[in-house]
Amino acid sequence: MAAERSITRQAFAKINLDLRVLGVRPDGYHELRTTFQSIALADTLTFAHALGPFRILCDDPACPVDARNLVWRAAEQIWKAARRRGKPHDVTVRIAKRIPIEAGLGGGSSDAAAAIQALAALWGVKLSRDRRRRIAAEIGADVPYFFEGGTALGEGRGDRLVPLPDITPAWVVVTVPGFGVSTKEAFGWWDDAQVRQVGRAGRDGHVNDLQLAVAGRHPIINKLVAALKREGAFRASLSGSGSAVFGLFRRKVDAERASVALAGRRRRVLLTRTIDRPTYRRLAAK
Ligand code: C5P
Repeated sequence: MAAERSITRQAFAKINLDLRVLGVRPDGYHELRTTFQSIALADTLTFAHALGPFRILCDDPACPVDARNLVWRAAEQIWKAARRRGKPHDVTVRIAKRIPIEAGLGGGSSDAAAAIQALAALWGVKLSRDRRRRIAAEIGADVPYFFEGGTALGEGRGDRLVPLPDITPAWVVVTVPGFGVSTKEAFGWWDDAQVRQVGRAGRDGHVNDLQLAVAGRHPIINKLVAALKREGAFRASLSGSGSAVFGLFRRKVDAERASVALAGRRRRVLLTRTIDRPTYRRLAAK
């Protein structure tokens, strides 16, 4: 079979409907229990043959195009799995970046999952589901989720997945403050705030244990959550380690009204919707 010359993939974002930090693991990571949910916001990645060193081009200047980009790490892993020598070459990846960076929406991880699949196809590597999952988990804790999509429970580092029945579709208002949050840093803030947090989870109504820690540094987070609830969101929370805050709405008109109300000079507001697993599989070609 002739190798494909060019592959295009949609890489969808996620939100975390809830996120519990259960403790610190011996490997330094945090033990989590979280519910991932796909949303209809996606980067588009095109993988094409092009002579020369492996290259990433991205239309967002804030997006790294070197080894800091998880697509780069995916390329190195798949190149190795293909038993090729030296460094990856003869492929250029173009990323049309629509998922905000350092927002807790999984953009980098979703791009990496798309890259694992596309590059395995381009370089003719057959990966078992288990090998693919292991490569993904090594690149980042939430990368394996992007092989599932829809509503799914993540345990362990967030990489042990149990698909859940898809939730009732909802409209999603995503507010993205004018700053990003590094995941590593956010977990560090959780460590610092741990003592204060004990006994508060559940009583203060937070569904994301990282929210208190991140809002400690960035008070706007709690203000955005409160504003989304005031606008009628039936659930509002930080997504992952932030900085994005989302609100869920049953009716589109309410979500639209909230988007207008939440608009601000220092932040982006995106109106989107949840997508279920069958839709995710179809659109992301997983
Ligand atoms: O795996 P990933 O690269 O997404 O994680 C980034 C950082 O977030 C890790 O280096 C770790 O410090 C922190 N993290 C954690 N516990 C998790 C996931 C991430 O402490 N379950």
